[in-house]
Amino acid sequence: MAKRPYQPKDFYFRKAKDEGLRARSAFKIEEIAKKHAIFKKGQNVVDLGAAPGGFLQIILNAIGPTGFVVGVDLAAIKPLGRPNVKTAVLDVLADDFHEQLEALQGGPIDVVVSDLAPKTTGIKDVDEARSLRLVGVALEVAKRRGRAGGHFVAKLFMGGEFEEVRKGLREAYEDVKVVRPEATRGASMEIYLVGLRRRA
Ligand SMILES: C[S@@+](CC[C@H](N)C(=O)[O-])C[C@H]1O[C@@H](n2cnc3c(N)ncnc32)[C@H](O)[C@@H]1O
Repeated sequence: MAKRPYQPKDFYFRKAKDEGLRARSAFKIEEIAKKHAIFKKGQNVVDLGAAPGGFLQIILNAIGPTGFVVGVDLAAIKPLGRPNVKTAVLDVLADDFHEQLEALQGGPIDVVVSDLAPKTTGIKDVDEARSLRLVGVALEVAKRRGRAGGHFVAKLFMGGEFEEVRKGLREAYEDVKVVRPEATRGASMEIYLVGLRRRA
């Protein structure tokens, strides 16, 4: 039988399973965090679009027992077995989302993380516009609650509005990076925008 070609999808899928991670996407935040020193012990973090919890597993390890993380998603997230994580089923597009989040998580937020992704339709413009709307929510969370000096990481489908978003981010953060992690599937249009050190 012919040998199957190398498929990164299988590699990261298996690696996630081997390491007890809930999703292969965990490797994306791990890579971004390592590259840009995003997390520190004791931070207050929010993870938007957090189900099934792969990012949360990495974040929990990085912030340690003195940190705190809230993960929200339309889908329920199975308990992570740690006292310093709260999860909730929330629609980030709901009118009262910011109030609901504030009720779950006090204080300024050190790192706003968003892996929010719309259900794709295959129609490029529609998918990009939906992705953009979700990134808008993450940016609004950072604007309302982000601590000066804190960081921002959000997934975005690369499209026409990308430069606009990057420009906005540059106004709010001292340094802005664009990352396409290794674990991103070959044809995917997704990238992560990273904002470092929120301006006061
Ligand atoms: C790529 S997945 C996240 C994977 C996650 N980072 C992990 O590591 O397990 C994208 C998530 O965005 C969520 N999502 C999309 N639209 C949403 C909305 N309006 N409100 C809340 N979550 C949403 C989806 O339910 C989905 O679970």
